[in-house]
Amino acid sequence: MVQLQPGPVSAGGVGLDNHLLLAAGILGTTGASLLRILNSGAGGVVTKSIGPYPNEGHHGPCLVRTDTGILNAMGLPNPSKEFLDEIPVIRDRPVIVSIYGGNPGEFAEVAGWFKDSARAFELNVSCPHAAGYGAALGSDPAMVEACTRAVRRLGIPTWVKLTPNVTDITLCGLAAERGGADAVVAINTLKAMRISTGMRRPVLGNRTGGLSGRAVFPVAVRCVYELYEACTIPVIGCGGISCAEDVMEMMMAGASAVEIGSAVYDDPLLFAKIAGDLYSENGENPADIVGCAHV
Ligand SMILES: Cc1cc2nc3c(=O)[nH]c(=O)nc-3n(C[C@H](O)[C@H](O)[C@H](O)COP(=O)(O)O)c2cc1C
Repeated sequence: MVQLQPGPVSAGGVGLDNHLLLAAGILGTTGASLLRILNSGAGGVVTKSIGPYPNEGHHGPCLVRTDTGILNAMGLPNPSKEFLDEIPVIRDRPVIVSIYGGNPGEFAEVAGWFKDSARAFELNVSCPHAAGYGAALGSDPAMVEACTRAVRRLGIPTWVKLTPNVTDITLCGLAAERGGADAVVAINTLKAMRISTGMRRPVLGNRTGGLSGRAVFPVAVRCVYELYEACTIPVIGCGGISCAEDVMEMMMAGASAVEIGSAVYDDPLLFAKIAGDLYSENGENPADIVGCAHV
């Protein structure tokens, strides 16, 4: 397998310890769990998405495993502003705070709470199972642009996490870029559902949810590839990554760094393992790899 030279990484205005970040919502609800992931080989972490009001999320079942992925409808549970209490243990580390709101004003309000603790913000305009939030806004390019602009005004690098549940993801990527985004992140989960044949009912309490894990990897690669062609800002790849070979494929599609979520549930030490396989002193310059599949 092709390997990369190790060394500090800069992506979307943020300095990272390596190319591998923890994706939002995966073991990222406390400072202690984020610190553990950082100390076990991640180059940076993204927090659980934090919103304008405390939220208990959807009633269960909220998560079910499928053959090659995870189907979840957590419904963005979070403590809102109280998440500030989790920050001290991870201050001065590469922490990206994921935020959401129902309009540009709410995004700006939540960002304001964390402006002294975030290396960057990641705007969740892509959750497929939170009525009035997430993909409800993120399918509308004008709204993506307005939310991005409202947060970017604070002067902190702003990443915009996009939904794949649209006909053309580049329209939202370009909207984020117009709003001043420093990077786009692709992808959040794919809207999906399962039905229990025994119960004759949808499995998830919310009926529909978002699919993640190995099943979505080819969709994520395609989205990263299209965004790399359309946008001038960096693309962060996310979706179905579980090994160093996947990271390399994402980078060849155009990703400047990657986020890993579902696979961490199966192996909390995954970051160190992937970094061990990915980097070698004799490896290639990452700049020669990012986007090299575009001819
Ligand atoms: C249980 C669970 C909770 C998630 N919570 C969030 C969240 O709060 N905010 C967000 O932007 N994405 C959230 N996601 C989406 C992931 O960050 C990621 O985009 C998606 O799972 C695809 O990556 P993966 O296949 O590596 O998991 C969540 C995913 C899962 C499985």
